[in-house]
Amino acid sequence: MVDQLALDGGPPVRETYLPYSRPVLTAEEVAAATAVLESGWLTTGPDIPEFERAFAAAVGAPHAVAVSSCTAALHLAYLAVPLGPGEEVIVPALTFAATAASALAAGGRPVIADVGEDLNVDPEEVARRFGPRTRAVTVVHLGGLPCDLAALEVLCAARDLALLQDCAHAVGAEYDGEPLGGRGFAACYSLHAVKQIAAGEGGVVTTADDGVAEQARLLRNHALTTSASERHGAAAGYRYDVAGLGFNYRLGDVNAAVALSQLGRLAEDGARRGALAARYDAAFGGRDDVEIIPTPRHLRHGRHLYIIKLRLAALTADRDQIFRALRAENVGVNVHYIPLHYHSYYRDLLGHRPGDFPRAEALFERILSLPLFAAMTDSDADDVVAAVDKVLRHYRR
Ligand SMILES: Cc1ncc(COP(=O)(O)O)c(C=O)c1O
Repeated sequence: MVDQLALDGGPPVRETYLPYSRPVLTAEEVAAATAVLESGWLTTGPDIPEFERAFAAAVGAPHAVAVSSCTAALHLAYLAVPLGPGEEVIVPALTFAATAASALAAGGRPVIADVGEDLNVDPEEVARRFGPRTRAVTVVHLGGLPCDLAALEVLCAARDLALLQDCAHAVGAEYDGEPLGGRGFAACYSLHAVKQIAAGEGGVVTTADDGVAEQARLLRNHALTTSASERHGAAAGYRYDVAGLGFNYRLGDVNAAVALSQLGRLAEDGARRGALAARYDAAFGGRDDVEIIPTPRHLRHGRHLYIIKLRLAALTADRDQIFRALRAENVGVNVHYIPLHYHSYYRDLLGHRPGDFPRAEALFERILSLPLFAAMTDSDADDVVAAVDKVLRHYRR
């Protein structure tokens, strides 16, 4: 007997909606934000360098520059490459649009490469896209699973290309036991509300290159040669120079204080997300209608997302129908991502058609992100497992 789906009027597995992500905000974050508000210094204050020092140490990078978003971080990193008009950056077919949009904003042109079964860019596909105008390769560690960095580093070094990491999902991830932030030309992190460190909005550029860090610091603050705190006070002067084309990409101090507080729990919250993921692995690993994405032994998954791949041949419904059925069960599934070339802007700009990136397209038909955040209980995870089981049994071929 198969239970009636909530979509068809049956009782949902959960009474209340479980989102795919929710920030963990404790009394510590409230106290940290309150202290900033009480200090009266809301931006370019002392919380920024304090957060930057802690973040650099956490991700293994010599420099961390806090900015207003990961999109801003990517824009500054691309500007540092730099990209001449129309010079090319290779980006994965499965990513959020910001990976490519920020390259265009910096004067470059994204060139899409197909992905592998782990949803990350395939180094062989990257190599196939190299041309005389290629200047950089940007990898995305999708969901927090590190991509094949060793292979990509070799490919980029051989052609003197900048290797950028879009680490929006990957704080806490490790490759061969080391965090990712010091590798490549630069790494760009997100502090958006759904991410592991959820400051609301925010981002960080990390790099081992002194010049890249210095330029990012300058350009995030309108390319002004002095900061507001240096111009503050009775003995200070008002003068500054504008030394380049800069932006307001500053992170506010409230956001930095919240982020610093959460950074202190990165290991603890990461272990919790890892335990929830292990619970999902155990539940789904033996099923013939679902495929899980394994984490190779030399990698530590950052666990922003938990993504399953449906085996559609075993099912009578497509992913969208299963998505709707799970949402009706009050399970906040999501899809990461719609392939870049399916979006009208990139399709038209880059002249792509369906069929151009067959692996990303086939994977897109099968992927579902399940709820994952540190405040989830075991019982929440069991509800997700029960809902997936209920829906997939309903649609079994
Ligand atoms: C892979 C990827 N890159 C970049 C971004 C942009 O991050 P932000 O919202 O901090 O600008 C996101 C946001 O979700 C993302 O998922």
